[in-house]
Amino acid sequence: MARRLRWLGMGLAWLLVLPGGEVAAQDGDLERGREVYDRWCASCHGVEGDGLGPAAGYMLPRPRDFTRGLYQIRTTAGGEIPTDDDIMRMINEGMPGTTMPGWQDQLSRRDREAVKDYIKSFYPPFETMDEPEPLDFGRAPRANEERIAEGRIFYDSIECWQCHGDAGRGYGPSAPELEDDRDYPIRAVDLTKNWKFNGGGSVEEVYRRLRTGMDGTPMPAFSDLVDAGFMTDEQLWNLAHFVRSLAPEDPPRVREVIRADKVEPGEVPRTVRDEAWDEVEKFYIPLVAQIIVLPRWFDPAIDGVWVQALHDGDEIALRLTWHDRSRSPDPAWMQWQERVIEVMEPVEGDPVEPAPRPDRFAVQFPPEIPDGMERPYFLMGSSDRPVYLWRWRSDQDGAEPARARGMHEVEALSGSIEADALWEAGRWQVVLRRSLEPAADDGRLRFETGVPIPIAFFAWDGDNAEEGTRGSVSSWFFVYLREEAPVSTYVAPLVAFVLTGGLGLVVVARAQRRERTLAEGAEDDPDPDVGPDTDPDADPDPEARPPP
Ligand code: HEC
Ligand code: HEC
Repeated sequence: MARRLRWLGMGLAWLLVLPGGEVAAQDGDLERGREVYDRWCASCHGVEGDGLGPAAGYMLPRPRDFTRGLYQIRTTAGGEIPTDDDIMRMINEGMPGTTMPGWQDQLSRRDREAVKDYIKSFYPPFETMDEPEPLDFGRAPRANEERIAEGRIFYDSIECWQCHGDAGRGYGPSAPELEDDRDYPIRAVDLTKNWKFNGGGSVEEVYRRLRTGMDGTPMPAFSDLVDAGFMTDEQLWNLAHFVRSLAPEDPPRVREVIRADKVEPGEVPRTVRDEAWDEVEKFYIPLVAQIIVLPRWFDPAIDGVWVQALHDGDEIALRLTWHDRSRSPDPAWMQWQERVIEVMEPVEGDPVEPAPRPDRFAVQFPPEIPDGMERPYFLMGSSDRPVYLWRWRSDQDGAEPARARGMHEVEALSGSIEADALWEAGRWQVVLRRSLEPAADDGRLRFETGVPIPIAFFAWDGDNAEEGTRGSVSSWFFVYLREEAPVSTYVAPLVAFVLTGGLGLVVVARAQRRERTLAEGAEDDPDPDVGPDTDPDADPDPEARPPP
């Protein structure tokens, strides 16, 4: 489901472009390029190359207008046309963080070359100008603490934070006002998610974007300043190393099961800041646009949440962490909301009005733990199969239990869920806590240990006009509350030893080690009840997928 959802999240555009087949060979490669273009690119980029294809209105950033000759990802200086290799790279690999797909596996090399020449023909100066020389980028110096610290100083002094914010999450004071060259609102990239950078997230790629800028966007270029001696190449590399250091070594893996370790009775943390969370593993859940139930919203601001979970046999707590550029409702972001509503029309269903809206988050469970894989409809259930929700919003204390029979039918249940929340530097952290036993038998889940429990997530950024059906969603995942392994668990390997003779040597050695660690009270819990699909300890995880 996650796969399908992500696919849907890429925008309606896909529905329009996917049908089709091999393009018949034509005389002349420009003619061939036109055929490839009309079939595969025009629904987004427009038959005339003006970026106004029928699907374009559903996406932000909008598809490139090729008649302007402005390209973001180049090896050439700011304001110059790109090289053929630059354009080919974007066609081959696509642009992460946007709807622009990569075509390497979809189109033959000849078709990709032909369509590259065809999109150049939308901008006549390509014909008369010589192909520009790529800049010489040299080689990346090695990263070290000192470089990164100097890069940080530079980040502050040349005011990258104006747009990207101190912590890099794209929430700087100028962020709500940014526009691209066609007056569309544009987000300052969240520098901590380098896997979403349009031109790639390595230090070399970041350095290149800093040298060349990203034409058509407010992102400045620094090649001229380097050439004029206002800054050294070394300083720019340091800055690139600092930017790279804001993101993790690797993009987060997506796993099906969120593991909730067991802590001592009474030790379930209550607050966001509790240091106990520092030791708890984070599970990354991608979120995509809710574009199934009307009114839809094709431009949600929140694209993922990190989930941590703990229980003590009596209570469970989740800490949810997601990046959000504002603590909604923030008056500074009202202009952003107005513009985003304006450009994301047409919106089917009720029209959206700009309004001060809080941020919201919901966690969804089935009313009871299902046998097998059966689960309610992931978008808040249906009339015959309701779901149980925890609903949090930024303008109220605590969170609210609720029952839903579809996105339009949500009713509050009595009582509340304990919550602690903090917005800081472009990031929300929220702790939600409940006893494993439900407060009432009215469709509230009874949490059990040792079984995978379905769980799903919804997020809304109020300043991005999100509420109700307009927001981001995940598919179903599982949360698994570990129990201390009963002693009988450790008998199994011993039996195996007896049965398999020689092979058992290895097994028994392991069993002995286990027994030793058990005796020492170490938490080593093999969870043998969990099948291969849902084993939270499986590592490496064959189901792991890169985030969208
Ligand atoms: C689903 C919509 C969609 C389809 C289909 C699509 N593109 Fe794009 N394309 C985009 C968007 C959106 C951008 C701009 C992203 C941005 O501004 O960050 C883009 C940007 C580009 C760029 C600009 C790269 C740069 O450096 O600025 C090129 C070149 C390009 N597309 C070529 C193509 C070609 C060729 C095809 C067909 C084979 C195609 N695109 C199909 C959405 C699409
Ligand atoms: C005036 C606002 C502004 C300032 C100042 C600014 N940026 Fe950006 N930056 C942007 C915007 C907007 C984008 C996103 C462009 C896009 O999505 O097409 C961006 C994108 C980026 C990217 C992502 C590149 C990619 O491949 O997608 C990096 C890295 C970056 N900026 C680093 C920096 C650094 C370092 C500085 C300081 C030298 C800086 N920016 C200053 C607005 C700004």
